[in-house]
Amino acid sequence: MLDFLNIHFEYNNRIILNDFSMRLQVGEVVSLLGPSGCGKTTLLKLASGIEKIQKGEIKLNNQTISSRDTHLSPDKRGIGYVFQDCALFPHLTISQNIFFGMDKKEEQLQTKKIQQLMDEVNLSNFSDKYPHELSGGQQQQVALIRAMASDPQIILLDEPYSNLDSRLKEKIRDQMLHILRENNISALLVTHDPEEAMFMSDKIGVLNNGFIEQFGSPIDLYLRPKSAFIAEFFGEINVFGGIVEEGLVNTVLGTFSCPKKFNKSKVKIVIRNEAIMLYSDKKNISKNTNKNKYIISPYIGCVMEARLLAGSTLVHLSIKVGNTDFHVHARIPGLNFFNINEKVKVCSDPSQIFIFKD
Ligand SMILES: Nc1ncnc2c1ncn2[C@@H]1O[C@H](COP(=O)(O)OP(=O)(O)OP(=O)(O)O)[C@@H](O)[C@H]1O
Ligand SMILES: [Mg+2]
Repeated sequence: MLDFLNIHFEYNNRIILNDFSMRLQVGEVVSLLGPSGCGKTTLLKLASGIEKIQKGEIKLNNQTISSRDTHLSPDKRGIGYVFQDCALFPHLTISQNIFFGMDKKEEQLQTKKIQQLMDEVNLSNFSDKYPHELSGGQQQQVALIRAMASDPQIILLDEPYSNLDSRLKEKIRDQMLHILRENNISALLVTHDPEEAMFMSDKIGVLNNGFIEQFGSPIDLYLRPKSAFIAEFFGEINVFGGIVEEGLVNTVLGTFSCPKKFNKSKVKIVIRNEAIMLYSDKKNISKNTNKNKYIISPYIGCVMEARLLAGSTLVHLSIKVGNTDFHVHARIPGLNFFNINEKVKVCSDPSQIFIFKD
């Protein structure tokens, strides 16, 4: 179990982490998600002991490993680290890279496990090759196996798939997840890809302005985002402004009910693209939708573009209300062909609509 307790960290008087706290339980995979430069790598450097802590504490199984007075050196922490840039030694073979820093006895102890791991990722014939003879994906696999070589309790993974194409990424992260689970290793994964975080993690923490804005299961973050920033991280959204009157707010997509506490307040209404359904004007809307469940827009949309993306169609709509032209994106499952300029009725699923105070 790894605990970050009220971590504060600055580079040159610039605050990077501000009162950051989080727990990684044994056997869990936790992802830290956040925009570039928000302090993800800094946090991993503090956990691994590469950087010294300024304020706060890091505990491994209730033992302090980093505080203002304590600093356990990186090699004594039992924490493996797969760096953001992979960082294999170019002048050493794959096998020398993996066993780097081990004495003969330790090497003998670990050989069988390493062979098994190399087999699992089809790299057993590459032991005597040099890093430049491997693809980017294969080098990432070697970096993971190297981090696992000394039986760490925890592995830190810093954007381990960022250099890979999307197909290879899917395959490699699947293999990584199985290896972590089979070996009961906890992992803290850093990424700015929400789908990757959802694929890999038991829990996700979203970093914003130096602290965790929300921490929870992938389902929690997707269905119950605490802010527009979190909602936006987990999918494409439409955002509208409005003022709440008697528990209701009017938007171009219809009238939504709001919590009482928002009465008379300015609010931001966030609607996921996939929460919007479109019906051709020719069809009778009542036959297609459950009127009690969905909110029906009083306005008609006009299709500007319809593009097939993998597994879904993204439709760009223009909805005119008086002199204002609202641009709305809807993501429809599968291939849904709409003609340009086709008129459509627009419905939305209220369970995918989030309202925040502006
Ligand atoms: N050694 C350093 N000296 C001074 N500033 C640094 C140093 N390392 C990082 N920073 C700054 O600290 C901030 C956080 O950096 P960090 O590498 O933790 O970001 P990150 O979230 O990992 O970003 P990315 O997603 O781009 O990898 C950045 O603004 C960066 O410029
Ligand atoms: Mg980084």
